Amino acid sequence: MAIERTYAMVKPDGVKRNLVGEIISRIEKKGLKIVAMKLMQITPEIAENHYGEHKGKPFYNGLVSFITSGPVVAMVLEGEGAVAAWRTMMGETHPADSTMGSIRGDLATTLDENVVHGSDAPATAEREIGIFFPELA
Ligand code: RTP
Ligand code: MG
Repeated sequence: MAIERTYAMVKPDGVKRNLVGEIISRIEKKGLKIVAMKLMQITPEIAENHYGEHKGKPFYNGLVSFITSGPVVAMVLEGEGAVAAWRTMMGETHPADSTMGSIRGDLATTLDENVVHGSDAPATAEREIGIFFPELA
């Protein structure tokens, strides 16, 4: 499988709950390489760009207000099959559907505040890396 890059993020709930170290530790132990990382506040404009695919859905306004509610840790991860590897580490969108051992399975209970984000496909990763780390795109 090819070396890929993916966009990963600890969402505001994960930062507030002091889970950044736990999540970075899992990434390091898995063997994915952190090639960029920063603590930042997402503006409504960035949120709209990042989550544009969900615009018009019933949960969209809540999603934007949540993701802008506090700082996030934005990262670019690199490794063999990194996009799928990070999605597997995250678990399913709803923590209740996530197996124990995954981040959402172990560390989250609610759909709205599910601790982490990850690009869902290589093309999405390119787009999201361009939003958060334009210098890498
Ligand atoms: P994310 O983009 O945040 O990594 O999550 P995901 O790919 O697993 O899920 P996605 O379908 O992209 O949805 C983005 C976030 O919106 C919330 N959501 N709510 N009420 C609902 O039906 C619903 N569906 C999605 C979740 O917080 C999800 O992480
Ligand atoms: Mg998504």
